[in-house]
Amino acid sequence: MTIATPSTPRPRVLSGMRPTGKLHLGNYMGALYNWVKLQHEYECYFFIADYHALTTDYADPSGLQSNIREVALDFLSAGLDPERCTIFVQSHVHQHAELNLLFGMFTPLGWLERVPTYKDQQEQLREKDLNTYGFLGYPLLQAADILLYQPDFVPVGADQVAHVELTREVARRFNQLYASRPTPAIRHAHSDKERLAAEISQNEVVEQILPEPKALLTPSPKLPGTDGRKMSKSYGNTILLSDPEDVVRAKLKPMVTDPARIRRTDPGNPDVCPVFDLHRVFSTEETLQNVRQGCTTAGIGCIQCKGWLTDAVVKELAPIQERRRHLEANPKQVDDVLEAGAGRASQFAARTMLPVLKAAGLR
Ligand code: TRP
Ligand code: SF4
Repeated sequence: MTIATPSTPRPRVLSGMRPTGKLHLGNYMGALYNWVKLQHEYECYFFIADYHALTTDYADPSGLQSNIREVALDFLSAGLDPERCTIFVQSHVHQHAELNLLFGMFTPLGWLERVPTYKDQQEQLREKDLNTYGFLGYPLLQAADILLYQPDFVPVGADQVAHVELTREVARRFNQLYASRPTPAIRHAHSDKERLAAEISQNEVVEQILPEPKALLTPSPKLPGTDGRKMSKSYGNTILLSDPEDVVRAKLKPMVTDPARIRRTDPGNPDVCPVFDLHRVFSTEETLQNVRQGCTTAGIGCIQCKGWLTDAVVKELAPIQERRRHLEANPKQVDDVLEAGAGRASQFAARTMLPVLKAAGLR
């Protein structure tokens, strides 16, 4: 006779990404690649943060639906498996908005004004008017996104750590305000004197209705774009996961190299070359050695070096693009994944909201 052992629950992970359109290698190495690995070890929730897109792009939502679609395609093409993780669109789960509203009641303005991305982004996106309530509230919406799923970990890059920190403060404040109870010793005291003694020694029990999650700093290698700056959609220097081979080749051909290597006969220094930074991520150890050797002795030219890089990138992208072709031919499959994901996420979110609403006096 076999005895069924209850499988130990896996720690839970939640993360989200803004729907910026077709994803590039920077998005992939910075997040998605890690998510694909995490789905084997954790109970995972991954979502497309469409409300967050509106915090900066509220003036023109015309591209939002197609951007959501492209990101969903890239999620699945990159290897997120809907059998292993829950994939959904933020606005399909109304509890995100609901919990955000509730958090707004007790979050001091100063907490939000002090989040470093607030002033930074306002300065970087000067062409947009970001003096809005929604933009100030961006990290609070993110706190709601996270706490709804009571995750153990939130995989994010270094730029998002401050947001997870705020999330922890919001959870702590919620628990303190609405979930603190006198300890049994205080409740069962027989006299004022006994109660006072118990209060001094034991204070109160703060229940964890909303447990505090931890940031899971995922490795994100330095990934320059074709102009040598950080790969980013706003710089127009990206290579997309969906770029076909000839496009990858054409984009990498004029890529910035070691600026001191002017002539073919000049030896170069891979350690200051953005092309080599990409080699480090995508090429085999053998190619890395050949590049090092060839570059420093002027044995190879930059054109040849970029050709090898193109081969490595194309090889990495091949299985992703193969899955994409299949999904593009079966659009209903993507709809079904997002619908099922929203269903599962809603169920979880509703379970979290019940004690939350009760504690806040709303039930
Ligand atoms: N702010 C994140 C970013 O710009 C996206 C995001 C929204 C997110 N909600 C989240 C990430 C919740 C992790 C958890 O990348
Ligand atoms: Fe950079 Fe390669 Fe040219 Fe060396 S050979 S400078 S590593 S592109």
